[in-house]
Amino acid sequence: MPAATTRTNQPGLGDGHFPGTGNWPFIFDLVPVFIRCSEVDLTPQTKLPVYLDHHATTPLDPRVLEAMLPYFTRCFGNAASQIHSFGWDARQAVDSAREIIGQSVNARPQDICFTSGATEAINLAIKGLFHAGGKVPQHFITVVTEHPAVLDSFRRIEAEGAEITYLPVDFQGMLNPRLIAEHIRPHTKMVSVMAANNEIGVLQPIDEIGAICRQHNVLFMTDATQAFGKIPLDVSAANIHLLAASAHKIYGPKGVGILYCRRRRPSVSLIPIIDGGGHERGLRSGTLNVPGIVGFAKATELALAEMNTEQPRLRDLRDTLFQMLQQGIPGIKLNGSPDRRLAGNLNVCIPGIVNESLILALADDVACSSGSACTTAAVDPSHVLKALGLSLAEVHASIRFGLGRSTNATEAQQAGRAILKEVRKLRASGPL
Ligand SMILES: Cc1ncc(COP(=O)(O)O)c(C=O)c1O
Repeated sequence: MPAATTRTNQPGLGDGHFPGTGNWPFIFDLVPVFIRCSEVDLTPQTKLPVYLDHHATTPLDPRVLEAMLPYFTRCFGNAASQIHSFGWDARQAVDSAREIIGQSVNARPQDICFTSGATEAINLAIKGLFHAGGKVPQHFITVVTEHPAVLDSFRRIEAEGAEITYLPVDFQGMLNPRLIAEHIRPHTKMVSVMAANNEIGVLQPIDEIGAICRQHNVLFMTDATQAFGKIPLDVSAANIHLLAASAHKIYGPKGVGILYCRRRRPSVSLIPIIDGGGHERGLRSGTLNVPGIVGFAKATELALAEMNTEQPRLRDLRDTLFQMLQQGIPGIKLNGSPDRRLAGNLNVCIPGIVNESLILALADDVACSSGSACTTAAVDPSHVLKALGLSLAEVHASIRFGLGRSTNATEAQQAGRAILKEVRKLRASGPL
């Protein structure tokens, strides 16, 4: 098959068209490996779904790909090979990425540790801190609506003897920071609260939480995977000691993330979970993913440069979509706080439908999700929505739309029309 010349209207493939924009560079035409993906059964007329699942992952921005490309080929060196120019070049690229990513959250570059993603960063932070604490009693505080990477890591150390307090949230998904102060004990080691929720987009008051932790001399960790690059983050101002983020949520590549781990005032010590060559100052062994790291830095730069225009744009589009749905779907309800949420997040409960049926019915028109970004394979109903007090029927009637850089007004309208049509059909087909 003449893969290199195949053209489709699949976003980001073949036609150099980034979903929702017409003017992105024709970078994909330069990359045969990507063009080969168009061998899946797509003809030029294929109608593609509007991608509204940006919390799960985002498409790679062509500008990021462009920055990464030399590090796959010409500059292929191992950043740990400090004996020749190939290694020096790779190391320089990593150092500069560390600087850019560090600066973006007001952290020292040497406090940024590259990982394979946020899941690994979170595991390293929670398990590493617990194991560094030795045999003395250790207490941790977290929240019931955290991502499974956080909750499962805590469950793991709980089984090893740690004491964990899981705080509740209110009906809008907000944590009352006063609860933290009330639950801090003499041996509380760390408080872990996510910056933005991956299901309902709710933004927790991390500045306030950080201040409480400072007052009580307790470490503060935040899973910033969904917030990084979308809202301003300042580890110093918010008294954050540990922070996890991931490139693929901000139009960067998959398989690369960071753990910010403060090494000064106070110096947080972690026992690594991956042993080997002592890379990343001994925190995380393994040859660095140089193209991925370069891509993460480029994606960070772009997210920061565009934050002030992109976030209001997404908020407007999201609100327009919600208004459209409200007008056409009696009884529709917003899940999560209406004000304190990510600009691109819309999570709604549509009584009278089952989310899985709606998602399937929409498959040709809209790509969306019912639950947690990373756990859609699990059949369990959303622990986040249950924590808000939704009934099981309401949880199963809830659906998440995640708008992003690739969403434009036409697509939002197109998605809105398709959702209205399918909801009416499902409701007309009788009781659940
Ligand atoms: C809030 C949150 N934390 C952690 C993760 C895990 O990130 P990664 O895919 O980089 O492992 C995700 C992924 O969706 C997330 O949304």
